[in-house]
Amino acid sequence: MKHNTQETLQGQEMDSTIKRAMRKPFSDSKIIERANLLRDNDLYFFFRAIEETAASTVTVKGQKQIMIGSNNYLGLTHHPLVKEAAIKAIEKYGTGCTGSRFLNGNLNIHDELDVKLAEYLGHEKAIVFSTGMQANLGALSAICGPKDLMLFDSENHASIIDASRLAIGTTFKYKHNDMSSLEELLESNVSRFNRVIIVADGVFSMTGDILRLPEIVALAKKYGAYVYVDDAHGLGVMGHQGRGTMNHFDVTKDVDFNMGTFSKSFASIGGVISGSADAIDYVRHSARSFMFSASMPPAAVATVSACIDVVTSDDSILANLWSNVEFMRKGFQELGFYTYGSQTPIIPLFVGDDMKAVKMTKYLESKGVFATPVLPPAVPKGEALIRTSYMASHDRADLTKVLEVFAEAKKVFEIPSHLH
Ligand SMILES: Cc1ncc(COP(=O)(O)O)c(C=O)c1O
Repeated sequence: MKHNTQETLQGQEMDSTIKRAMRKPFSDSKIIERANLLRDNDLYFFFRAIEETAASTVTVKGQKQIMIGSNNYLGLTHHPLVKEAAIKAIEKYGTGCTGSRFLNGNLNIHDELDVKLAEYLGHEKAIVFSTGMQANLGALSAICGPKDLMLFDSENHASIIDASRLAIGTTFKYKHNDMSSLEELLESNVSRFNRVIIVADGVFSMTGDILRLPEIVALAKKYGAYVYVDDAHGLGVMGHQGRGTMNHFDVTKDVDFNMGTFSKSFASIGGVISGSADAIDYVRHSARSFMFSASMPPAAVATVSACIDVVTSDDSILANLWSNVEFMRKGFQELGFYTYGSQTPIIPLFVGDDMKAVKMTKYLESKGVFATPVLPPAVPKGEALIRTSYMASHDRADLTKVLEVFAEAKKVFEIPSHLH
């Protein structure tokens, strides 16, 4: 029942006055409390301003450091052919497209890159988005409709977690890379939903382990589910000439959707979704982050195209990357670090205590090594780690120096050799 009396109106006015007086400041939040604690102790290692970059080093506060915190796995950000392609694209098309591909921002080089990527990945069709995050948000929310179910790995990237919040359908998490946990969910749910989509990272971004993709494919076949792989860290790294995790396991034709990003091995920014012609046509007419956001700038498109040319014509780059990875993994294991069973260029090193992880990062910086700490909630409480990652462009002298610095740090900070 509506009460439109003078008293009620006065009451409403009072309510809104009280509400205004109770506005809570953002500085009260736990996030800001923690950031301030780190800042006050000169242990704040986020938003570090990099003044100059080279193939595998950066300059911060005037000091040159060996970069072991980057996703530039192929080391192509400074490759002469890649830089030249980007410069030429700016000269021809200018600096931006000022519109979405759907309407006024589609260049012929976007279409050409779609075709080139589809061929490279081994899928019928592909489309490029402006970032990998947008690719996941747009594609997954388009694919997972109201009667659909998304099953995703508990260690999937934040963009998949956010996509699951955006998607209208239902989502359930299974235990990390645990096929019996996935099968339990499939068994009890497939009959209740229209489509079921299994979503997982090809290479897990924190632990560096590889998805058990052949087993996922077998389960998808058994239960009639779709397979969606986020191969952000596998593209350019895994498989023949860097064609990704599905190529590594020879299951390309069984992966329905493969997502990749250009913000790592392909030295730029942007994302891609590939799959069958009809599925990709559906995504390009329904993914809102694709249709309602401006397209990749010309220099980024040309960069990605040149990276594909380089990695498919020069085998020495991938060979260098994997030889550096083996060297570092063996080196850290000999030093007694716990490396989470990493099998890829991402090598996490367990530290434990949060403050110890940031103090160790400061120590590394003072010795000329740029690495990144990973703190809760990104990892469980008491399991802070230093995430390190390696590139084709690192040279052995630099990597040997990194191992020497970590050997000292392990003693100074009494780092355990196993989890807990
Ligand atoms: C697994 C994974 N998926 C998606 C993304 C998002 O990619 P982008 O940086 O292109 O937005 C990232 C980047 O951190 C990632 O690691």
